Amino acid sequence: MNKPKIVVTRHWPAKVEEKLSDIFDTTLNVNDRPMSADELQSALQSADAVLPTVSDKLTADVLGVRPLRAKILGSYGVGFNHIDLNAAKCAGLTVTNTPEVLTDCTADLAMTLLLTLARKVGEGERHLRSGNWSGWRPTHMMGTRVTRKILGLVGMGRIARAVAQRAFFGFGMEILFYDPVPPPSEALGDIPAQFCSSLEQVMSRSDFVSVHCPGSKETYHLIDRSAIDTMQPHAFLINTARGDVIDENALVEALVNRKIAGAALDVHEREPNVSDALLTMENVVLLPHLGSATLETREDMGMRVIHNLEAFFSGSEPPDIII
Ligand code: DGY
Repeated sequence: MNKPKIVVTRHWPAKVEEKLSDIFDTTLNVNDRPMSADELQSALQSADAVLPTVSDKLTADVLGVRPLRAKILGSYGVGFNHIDLNAAKCAGLTVTNTPEVLTDCTADLAMTLLLTLARKVGEGERHLRSGNWSGWRPTHMMGTRVTRKILGLVGMGRIARAVAQRAFFGFGMEILFYDPVPPPSEALGDIPAQFCSSLEQVMSRSDFVSVHCPGSKETYHLIDRSAIDTMQPHAFLINTARGDVIDENALVEALVNRKIAGAALDVHEREPNVSDALLTMENVVLLPHLGSATLETREDMGMRVIHNLEAFFSGSEPPDIII
């Protein structure tokens, strides 16, 4: 039997690319150049499976191409807001993602951002490297204590719960959360997390607000000017979810007007572009979408895509089916 033909849109970890090449008739993107809309369309027309990442835009227009050979999009990532699911459905495509395997690393990064922001790690490092450090003094670069502070989580899915676990058991933080669909209490395990019935409640009561809801039409600019206005002036905002959940212009305005104390962003509304104003602010920590970026996790994500494809091409339902 002929091997299914697959197109991988970006360069993946070597171990996964080797396995893909063993099992399938695989076209890799060894140069890691982002594919254009036309290239994505020709992949959809020439391969049985296309394996996009969260930075490929699979819009209704791209997915509207016909005739289509592809039957499955094995997406490399947990978020799927880069895929127009209605258009994928109309095209008869199955879509899968890679949940669970990136939970711990993304939660670790959210805590990294929280600590970096609170303890002025970025600012301190820049200061030392600039050669301007004149020595220890009692009032130099005083940050904010993290231990026993209040952490508010927007969204209480797997990643938020992993952050809560780290924050509660590691730092004795009090945990609040807002989620329109709260998890069952068993999912919270031993973490005494307090449910807030509105976004406003969680934002206004927290010292740190960390965003963990998926990107979607419903969550677009959920954290807008009025939501940010409810935060306390000493509070910090952290985002490892999706950039456009926060209105970046409103955030810049709040930071300029010192309505909040700072922000740490791993994801950005107009990736890979970031507002010039944010780039110059010392109370802002910026990372280039690194939540899942460890070798182990990126390999696990690839293996998860492979499991989904193997199930699909053997006629079973893939474990991580979205549609
Ligand atoms: C995801 O998986 O959705 C992340 O944004 C990238 O790993």
